[in-house]
Amino acid sequence: MSTIDKLFSFDGKVIIITGAAGAIGSAAGHLFASLGANVVISDLNEEGAMKVAGEIAQESGKETLGIKTDATDEKQLQKLVEATVSKFGKISGLINNVGWGESTPLWGSDTDKMVKSYMLNTVGAYNLTKLCMPYLEKEHNASVIFSGSMVGVTPSPEFIEYSTAKAGLMNMVRSMAVVSGPKVRFNTVLIGSVDNGESTLKAGYTKEMLQTLSNSFVMKRRGNPVEIAYGMMFLMSNAAEWITGIDLRIDGGGSFKSKMPTDS
Ligand SMILES: NC(=O)c1ccc[n+]([C@@H]2O[C@H](COP(=O)([O-])OP(=O)(O)OC[C@H]3O[C@@H](n4cnc5c(N)ncnc54)[C@H](O)[C@@H]3O)[C@@H](O)[C@H]2O)c1
Repeated sequence: MSTIDKLFSFDGKVIIITGAAGAIGSAAGHLFASLGANVVISDLNEEGAMKVAGEIAQESGKETLGIKTDATDEKQLQKLVEATVSKFGKISGLINNVGWGESTPLWGSDTDKMVKSYMLNTVGAYNLTKLCMPYLEKEHNASVIFSGSMVGVTPSPEFIEYSTAKAGLMNMVRSMAVVSGPKVRFNTVLIGSVDNGESTLKAGYTKEMLQTLSNSFVMKRRGNPVEIAYGMMFLMSNAAEWITGIDLRIDGGGSFKSKMPTDS
């Protein structure tokens, strides 16, 4: 095996992915299984989870587990951990990928909407990570990755619940990293606008808005889900053994445009 293959081999690893019937989670599932991992495809959408788990197993030849889990329900998260350990005997990595946000004007939110978003985007990830910790601590180079969002680091008044919850997520991850090393590493992938089919449109964007957004990016397009999975792969790999507590921004340069006169 070449050095590069060793660095990016996930043979013998068991990785739980949440929101894995969706665009980015399923892309990560396909990628990690193709590199040798057993992946656990967990999603609220049971049919979607089973379908993705089946496709990955067929494509990679690796055993997978598809399971319905509501990431906001602690009992279901406990069942997810138990089912994983019962099937594969361990947990080597976790991708807390669940998340969603609806467009709400700044002063159009309320307690229920704020709490709901916080439960889905932040608290669920805390609870699942806590449940996985006893297993992760036993593994070499154990790693937890979180799906953050650019709206969590820039003012985003039109997504007030979602952006506030994602901002909280990022600092929670840093706190986890500080106290849990050297045994377990924690990092966030800071995601820009990625094509996930209908999901973003349902959140309140129109096709015209997405085109304008794409044009404003340095790379002049939205991302593909697998381009986020590549970042997750790096953060979870043996090449990243000394990396913890970072936010890896993958956004097509959307947040880093030149403000000089060359800017168009
Ligand atoms: N796509 C983007 O432009 C973008 C940008 C920034 C951040 N992100 C983040 O990336 C992550 C993945 O996004 P995506 O684009 O793949 O979204 P997606 O809508 O394609 O997938 C999300 C998945 O989460 C599942 N889900 C929703 N509620 C759930 C719950 N309570 N419990 C379990 N599963 C639940 C859905 O069924 C769906 O399969 C999210 O955290 C999102 O906030 C996405």
